[in-house]
Amino acid sequence: MSEHKPRKSIEKKMPKAFGWMAEYQDENNLLAAARKVRDSGYTKTDAFTPFPVHGIDEALGIKPTILPFIVLCAGFTGLATALLMQWWTNGFDYKYIISGKPFGITPASIPIAFELTVLFSAFTAFLGMIALNSLPKFSNPVFTNPRFDRATNDRFFLFVEATDKYYNRESVKELLGGTHPDSLDEVLEDTTPSTLPQPIILALLLLVVAGLIPGMIILNMRAGFSTAPRFHVFFDMDFQPKKKAQQQTTIFVDGRTMRPQVAGTIARGQLEEQDPFYLGYDPSKLTMSNDSPSVLFVSLQTPADGKPPIAVPPATKDEKTGGQPPATPVVPVLPWIVKLPIEANEDNMKVGKLKFETYCSACHGYGGYGDGLVHKRADALAQGYWLPPTSLHIDRVSKQPVGQIFNTITKGQGKMASYASSLTPKERWSIVLYVRALQRSRNANIDDVPVESRFLLDEDPKPVDPKPESTNSVEVTSK
Ligand code: HEC
Repeated sequence: MSEHKPRKSIEKKMPKAFGWMAEYQDENNLLAAARKVRDSGYTKTDAFTPFPVHGIDEALGIKPTILPFIVLCAGFTGLATALLMQWWTNGFDYKYIISGKPFGITPASIPIAFELTVLFSAFTAFLGMIALNSLPKFSNPVFTNPRFDRATNDRFFLFVEATDKYYNRESVKELLGGTHPDSLDEVLEDTTPSTLPQPIILALLLLVVAGLIPGMIILNMRAGFSTAPRFHVFFDMDFQPKKKAQQQTTIFVDGRTMRPQVAGTIARGQLEEQDPFYLGYDPSKLTMSNDSPSVLFVSLQTPADGKPPIAVPPATKDEKTGGQPPATPVVPVLPWIVKLPIEANEDNMKVGKLKFETYCSACHGYGGYGDGLVHKRADALAQGYWLPPTSLHIDRVSKQPVGQIFNTITKGQGKMASYASSLTPKERWSIVLYVRALQRSRNANIDDVPVESRFLLDEDPKPVDPKPESTNSVEVTSK
């Protein structure tokens, strides 16, 4: 610290005056003085008190802040931004169906609209408060008066600023002098040096330089021309031989990185195509007809003589139906397996019951009559397009081989969706087992009930039997 910079102006200037500061012993004096100053027309005034003083705003003539209004505007801006942004992104620029919702609708946009409203308002309230108070301010001339320190302790101060349009040094002094202050001082410019001390500047410089080092190392690592092995912070993360989902690639002609599945590909260990357990039919017994190579269709009049149904290719447009859908539903007829591939034991039955009641009862009802809650609700709403779930006790279903019911669960049937993604094949077979049990329970006779359990039947008011004439053609495991 040997060399000193020559002071800019040698001549001693009078420090600038910022106004008058009066000191009071209690808030009543302060309030009285504030009113007097306000009534004299001064507006650039301020009071400093150790605790909040009620009525000081009014005594000083301070108008309510416009901050709430600014925050309100910011809130609406946030709201509009969010709604427009979501409408633009999802409803216009990049239409993308999410959970089947329509594009650019308000209800789905509400969470983000709410968030942005709050975010914009909060930032505006915080930054607006700082800006309206002209903060940050590292030094205020009022601090030049040593008495002012007591403003946080036990004294009350009233300040009249020199920037007021009515300000006149002498008349303000006289006015404040008339309010019986403890002390009355002119607030003068802070003449202490405003530059940072040199050690602090040095330390900051050092910090900035040190902060550049990691960036420079990385830059050197990426853009340097040296042939020496480079320094890598995270080698494997910096250089990965991969493309991200929506990037372009030069490997394929269409430039797409995301590849559609190659048709016919089967993941390792998932070659389930040929196994009746996963299909419900035996593919080795498939007969190929010339007309329809893989799947045969039949209108569902199962021959009464118990022979397998005759495969009839579906009527094409120009044939006798004239393009109308056939009266009876058309389902594929395949070499269905008739023997359950899982054991008909208690465990499987339990799984089947649980899964049936979870996945199927909503439509088909707990008893399988097609009277589940979803059906009742749709029926009550009288929706014209509601197709009642098929009763599992009608002849057509109860005579179906187990493989076909498995197929219905796996692939879906008509209006009923597939449950393959929710249920494992084993669970599907367990459901088939349970459905078989349900069906049989509706066609049972007294000999099916163990003697020791028969007394339970007396308590049952009405044994439900929708089709008493149908014979007991259903077996849990047949043949
Ligand atoms: C969302 C309602 C709904 C659920 C849940 C549902 N189904 Fe269905 N199911 C239907 C409807 C509707 C039909 C009639 C479909 C048609 O003929 O277009 C049907 C038909 C059937 C049929 C008869 C198929 C045929 O050959 O005509 C069976 C068997 C069946 N469902 C079993 C099940 C099983 C087992 C489950 C549980 C895994 C299940 N369903 C879950 C609505 C449902």
